[in-house]
Amino acid sequence: MGSWFIEYVKTNDGSNTLYSKKYTQNFHSQTDGALNESLLKYVIPSFDIFQNKKHLNILDICFGIGYNTFTTIIYILQNNIKTKINFYSVELDEELINSLKDFNYPKEFLQISHIITAISNNKSYKDDQFYIEVKIDDARNYIKTLDNIDIVYQDAFSSDVNKELWTKEYFYDIKNSLSKDAILTTYSIATPIRLSMYENDLEIYEYKYDSKRKATLATTMVKIDCSFDLKYIDMIKKQINNPSAISLKD
Ligand SMILES: C[S@@+](CC[C@H](N)C(=O)[O-])C[C@H]1O[C@@H](n2cnc3c(N)ncnc32)[C@H](O)[C@@H]1O
Repeated sequence: MGSWFIEYVKTNDGSNTLYSKKYTQNFHSQTDGALNESLLKYVIPSFDIFQNKKHLNILDICFGIGYNTFTTIIYILQNNIKTKINFYSVELDEELINSLKDFNYPKEFLQISHIITAISNNKSYKDDQFYIEVKIDDARNYIKTLDNIDIVYQDAFSSDVNKELWTKEYFYDIKNSLSKDAILTTYSIATPIRLSMYENDLEIYEYKYDSKRKATLATTMVKIDCSFDLKYIDMIKKQINNPSAISLKD
């Protein structure tokens, strides 16, 4: 594994994740499970909203061990979805990406082992349906190079240790990279982070990814059609009720 990481951590759905020494956090919630977290917080809500699309551009912040990109591909293949997808991703730790071919992924990923090997060896992959690139860079630089992104999986470490990927200035560049009808999904439900998005003209919603726990969806869309419960969050009201809440700044 990359130099900043100590051994595997087994999560509650049986899938493995890593603990980062540098950020002193697990890559995934041990309670939710790495595979489940990826499916329930990111992939299923996104593909409920974006059905029957010919083409989608997904920004995966940040690649880590790649669960969000790889789980999306498994979901697409299992559900016989024909959408062509470009995945754009970025990761600071090159050693980690180089080591992915040896990572002990869940058995569901066996059918895409050729994709995992290609990412690990070449940091890119292409076939008739999927294009994937993983740039070794700071995400703050990389996001400035993108446009026409339809879906953002916002899955950085939490803001107390990875602040640069949660500020108003960061979301300014994210907003500039989005298409007219785009969504961003994230595990964070903190008001300061929602304000960082809202102050860049993204509308804020909340959804439950299991019977109790919540996640955030931010969007450029005027109206969202989906089959799950999406609660609009009135950020003006939030600020009135909690005047000390402020967005995160660089
Ligand atoms: C929570 S993990 C991502 C988990 C990932 N979605 C997965 O499924 O494995 C955060 C990752 O972001 C990387 N990272 C942190 N800050 C970064 C930055 N400014 N630019 C690029 N990568 C960064 C870390 O090295 C780590 O691999």
